[in-house]
Amino acid sequence: MADFNMVTDRAIRPGGKDPIFAIAGQAAERAEEIGSENVINSTIGALLDDDGKLITFESIYDYFKGLPNEEIAAYSALPGMPNYLVAVKEACFKEHVPEGYIEAIATPGGSGAIRHAMCNYTNYNDEILIADWHWSPYNTLAAENDRKIAHFELFTDEGVFNHIAYENKVNELLDKQGRLLVILNTPAHNPTGYTVTDQEWDRIVEFLNEIGKNRPEDKLILMVDVAYIDFSGKDSSVRSFMTKLTGLPRNVLVLYAYSASKGFTMYGLRNGAILCVTDYKEIADEFRNACAFSNRGTWSNGTRSAMVTIAHVFEKPELREKVMIEQAGYKELLQKRAEAFVASAKDAGLEIAPYKDGFFITIPCDNPKVASDKLIEKDAFLVPLNQGLRFAVCAVSEEKCKKAPYIIKEVLDSM
Ligand SMILES: Cc1ncc(COP(=O)(O)O)c(C=O)c1O
Repeated sequence: MADFNMVTDRAIRPGGKDPIFAIAGQAAERAEEIGSENVINSTIGALLDDDGKLITFESIYDYFKGLPNEEIAAYSALPGMPNYLVAVKEACFKEHVPEGYIEAIATPGGSGAIRHAMCNYTNYNDEILIADWHWSPYNTLAAENDRKIAHFELFTDEGVFNHIAYENKVNELLDKQGRLLVILNTPAHNPTGYTVTDQEWDRIVEFLNEIGKNRPEDKLILMVDVAYIDFSGKDSSVRSFMTKLTGLPRNVLVLYAYSASKGFTMYGLRNGAILCVTDYKEIADEFRNACAFSNRGTWSNGTRSAMVTIAHVFEKPELREKVMIEQAGYKELLQKRAEAFVASAKDAGLEIAPYKDGFFITIPCDNPKVASDKLIEKDAFLVPLNQGLRFAVCAVSEEKCKKAPYIIKEVLDSM
């Protein structure tokens, strides 16, 4: 740290390259040297085609590029375009709309929704509860907003949702703070690919009800981060948990962080929403007021053209059908890659975290950084996490997904 800073103490940050971007850069350099067909680059958290090019939905971009200039250039309404706020409820819940008051406010991606939840539902220095395996920007979002992060162990030894660890930690933090924001990233959790099952949701809901009744002075907010929902499951049952998460006591609130980044390949267009579900109108009203105010006080408003495109997808049946067909096709591509990886891992005897769906598979291991470095020597690029290695099936061809587990197993056995 320098001995003189113009930034305030809280704003002194380590700098340097983001570790994921750094390793992605190394992989790209190696591909230049020996040809991309000889490199397994599983570092990128976006859906790429078999040649490593970003997949973009033609149906979305044909429509988007046909919008009048004014629709692209103009500001959006502060809470989001009114027709987008209707469409995003459908995009989030589809045929599993929960009962109660539902409000939505547009945000720049799911990240914006998480930011608003942290800032409006926790106090400075509060701890926010997330799983031990998690998407690391939750830490950045918390730190940037002067909040802290606490963890619970996501899995039992049997590889299912660890209710005991989760419930104990919720109770402990409520004792301390009297208010708690919990973020659960499901379905298709990043980085493990775990999806909380409907039976597990039943118990989670039961617990929420108990907390609401037994701790009338406390406040519990559960945010479900559904960033990967449109690439999850084989059918609509992937959303069936949403209709369970309703009818809760007044002091328990359900929020959703919805993202159009993956589901509609709008990563850089920064489009998403924060949604709430509650039986209490006044709680829904204050949510809408708080989050609309937060929009004005942070990024002002979002990307109008992206909102209008999504709104029209849900208003125009022909466009909707085209988009859904394209989305389903790419979901299948992703699922085939993941199936290939999982089958080879089984065959190779490589232990993976319980994967059900999504962009990433993780391999729990000791010394992930050392393992990642050794894999780089074999031209396989995986992101080292605290507890293991992350393999992005979203970015790697089926053929390479089939090969990779044998290489990883060999390297881990050699350590
Ligand atoms: C778990 C998780 N949540 C939320 C997001 C939010 O992404 P965005 O802000 O691009 O919508 C991501 C993106 O990678 C993610 O992996």
